[in-house]
Amino acid sequence: MNLLEATKHPDLFRSWFKDEATWTAWRAFLGALFGLPLSDAEADVYRACTARQTIPAAPYSEAWLVCGRRGGKSFVMALVAVYLATFREYRQHLAPGERATILILAADRRQARVIFRYVRALLTEVPVLQKMIERETADEFDLKNRVTVEVGTSSYRAVRGRTLAAALADEISFWPTDDAAEPDYAILDALRPAMATIPGAVLLCASSPYARRGALYDAHKRHYGKDGSSVLVWQAATRTMNPTIPQKLIDEALERDLPSASAEYLAQFRSDVESFVSREVVEAAIPMGVVEKAPITGITYSAFCDPSGGASDSMTMAIGHREGERLILDAVRERKAPFSPESVVSEFSDLLKRYGIRKVVGDRYGGSWPSESFQRHGITYTPAEKPKSQIYVDLLPRLNSGEVELLDVPVLATQLVMLERRTARGGRESIDHAPGAHDDVANAAAGVLVSVGSRQKSTYNLAAF
Ligand SMILES: Nc1ncnc2c1ncn2[C@@H]1O[C@H](COP(=O)(O)OP(=O)(O)OP(=O)(O)O)[C@@H](O)[C@H]1O
Ligand SMILES: [Mg+2]
Repeated sequence: MNLLEATKHPDLFRSWFKDEATWTAWRAFLGALFGLPLSDAEADVYRACTARQTIPAAPYSEAWLVCGRRGGKSFVMALVAVYLATFREYRQHLAPGERATILILAADRRQARVIFRYVRALLTEVPVLQKMIERETADEFDLKNRVTVEVGTSSYRAVRGRTLAAALADEISFWPTDDAAEPDYAILDALRPAMATIPGAVLLCASSPYARRGALYDAHKRHYGKDGSSVLVWQAATRTMNPTIPQKLIDEALERDLPSASAEYLAQFRSDVESFVSREVVEAAIPMGVVEKAPITGITYSAFCDPSGGASDSMTMAIGHREGERLILDAVRERKAPFSPESVVSEFSDLLKRYGIRKVVGDRYGGSWPSESFQRHGITYTPAEKPKSQIYVDLLPRLNSGEVELLDVPVLATQLVMLERRTARGGRESIDHAPGAHDDVANAAAGVLVSVGSRQKSTYNLAAF
């Protein structure tokens, strides 16, 4: 039995698809994914959502859904996962003792729980499937056919060491960046070999779109609208996939914030958000294995601090100097919240003194406490003249021309690569971290590099000759 038949079968998934009329678009997608015949209406939706003409005759092993919020992505992922887990046989591809895993990865624990609830309902409310359950834990179902359905968050450490019959990635544009600068690519690279031993293993990635970068955008660029491409890319507004969402809700969102709502509900990639600097440029500026440079007598060092009250954000500091045209980063520090600001200021002051620094420039945040606090340690703290965006703008040409030497500190590279350039109404640009990401370390490093770069060369040069 194929999945479309199963959605109509009263003893299987029929109760999730009561009003058949609202599910045409999802039926078209599922039909295309599994290479099933499409009705005329479904074929029309297929052409509209793929910008392709030829109706596929065979199943896809890789598909991407670029769909609006509330469109039904997470539910359909759960449905595909449960179908693949219960209607297919993998035993012939497994070694003794090996299990086939259907892995669903969500952007965070809350979204993982949403999907897990969908999976649980599909498995436990259908009696024939319920009988297949061997064991249920907090995040997985072991089935009697040696298949495990597992729902997790998108950490790439967590994806290793399994044999995958399918991998389903939800909200891939919003995966957090703790492990790698490009978590989507890094995790997909880790998933693909795990699927190599199961013929017909399926990779399905879904997300509402965000900026014009990352794996989702890449797949869209390469495969959307390409007849004959082996990868299915499906792009559809919320109401195309789920007409039960009221138009009024979408109109109001568009009214409030057009760029954001056209991404969220109309499934258009944002054109007002671009990446700030490429990974290649950042990597070229990193001296491999150099995490810190000890102070050298005769060099004039500078420092920049991004203070934090210790409750949620990190407090960071960077030290650097200039050598001719080269802007060199010598040390970075990050103290993650929660912490006592006084003790971090004390620790940072000790480091400043080791480099012979008596003055630190700081992010303009935070009123007078950083200045008072550093003063107690004999350090003068002055707020930066430039706002953060301007600091990044000034750093970029120096980075691009290879004049900057960073340190081999992964969090710094990650934060720089994840910075975004946004164009606001009226053409004003701002550079900041992506939603859910951080830039405290990048801010401190950029701050010190730009400040040593803008300083007259004379201090250092006079000392050198
Ligand atoms: N075509 C449809 N007809 C009727 N109900 C639908 C349809 N598509 C989705 N739904 C229902 O909409 C609800 C939201 O689905 P789901 O959580 O999968 O959306 P989502 O795209 O993942 O949303 P979000 O962007 O918020 O994560 C579910 O109850 C689902 O059953
Ligand atoms: Mg969802």
